[in-house]
Amino acid sequence: MLGTVLILTSGVALSGVALLSNVTCTSAVAQGSDDLRAPSAFASIADSEARSRALFSEAAKVIMNPRCMNCHPASDSPLQGNDKHRHIPPVVRGEAGAGGPGNQCAACHTQANYTLLERATTSESIPGHPRWGLAPIEMAWEGKSVGEICAQLKDPKRNGGRDLALLHEHIAHDDLLAWGWNPGSGRAPAPGSQARLGELIQAWIDTGAHCPQ
Ligand code: HEC
Ligand code: HEC
Repeated sequence: MLGTVLILTSGVALSGVALLSNVTCTSAVAQGSDDLRAPSAFASIADSEARSRALFSEAAKVIMNPRCMNCHPASDSPLQGNDKHRHIPPVVRGEAGAGGPGNQCAACHTQANYTLLERATTSESIPGHPRWGLAPIEMAWEGKSVGEICAQLKDPKRNGGRDLALLHEHIAHDDLLAWGWNPGSGRAPAPGSQARLGELIQAWIDTGAHCPQ
């Protein structure tokens, strides 16, 4: 336990992380709102069911992005990096998704992103947020198709008991989800913006919330 806490305060311990983490992190690429089209870009699709599917597929550019997917894994372990490799060092989800006894996410992931002073590791920063932890297993997206994730998002048994309005509320305003566009130094943000994702999800709901195949 003490060892993991030291990672945050000691440069020497940080190079320990570097030894464990031998996967090269791609550098951040600036992404503009053009990377996520607005609902108006789909207005020419006359059939509303087809438009609904296309709107979800556009939103899925965010949902399938590593910044989101890495916290919605199918296994017991978070994923890391743009290549979605297994989290290094090994950690487990624990009962509430916040880590196991003596190995809590919060030991390393603090209240806010932490930029490493010297680039001793393959990454430039450690993500942080007060509620940092894995999405519950029923919300796992890893390995699923866009259509499967869409159906799951609509299912209150697998989306935290939300109806479509509450699902939209979560996607448009949740502050942990917002981390995807503010992921810390050295990590490419999710495409577009949270506001635009919220617009796409609203337009998808307004057109009947149909799922791609
Ligand atoms: C730090 C980990 C983490 C990251 C990063 C993250 N999520 Fe989640 N997500 C969670 C947790 C934990 C929950 C469960 C909280 C709840 O239901 O209120 C959740 C729940 C959700 C839900 C509601 C339940 C469902 O799956 O239907 C949606 C939608 C969602 N996340 C979307 C996203 C999107 C989109 C991104 C990227 C922009 C993202 N998440 C990034 C941890 C994360
Ligand atoms: C011993 C320290 C440590 C513990 C404990 C830890 N992490 Fe991490 N985590 C890191 C470091 C360091 C990084 C940055 C590495 C990188 O980006 O290459 C990271 C990155 C991540 C990322 C990648 C973000 C992205 O999009 O690339 C996720 C997701 C993550 N951790 C989730 C968790 C969760 C959930 C827990 C608890 C179940 C947890 N971590 C526990 C050290 C830790």
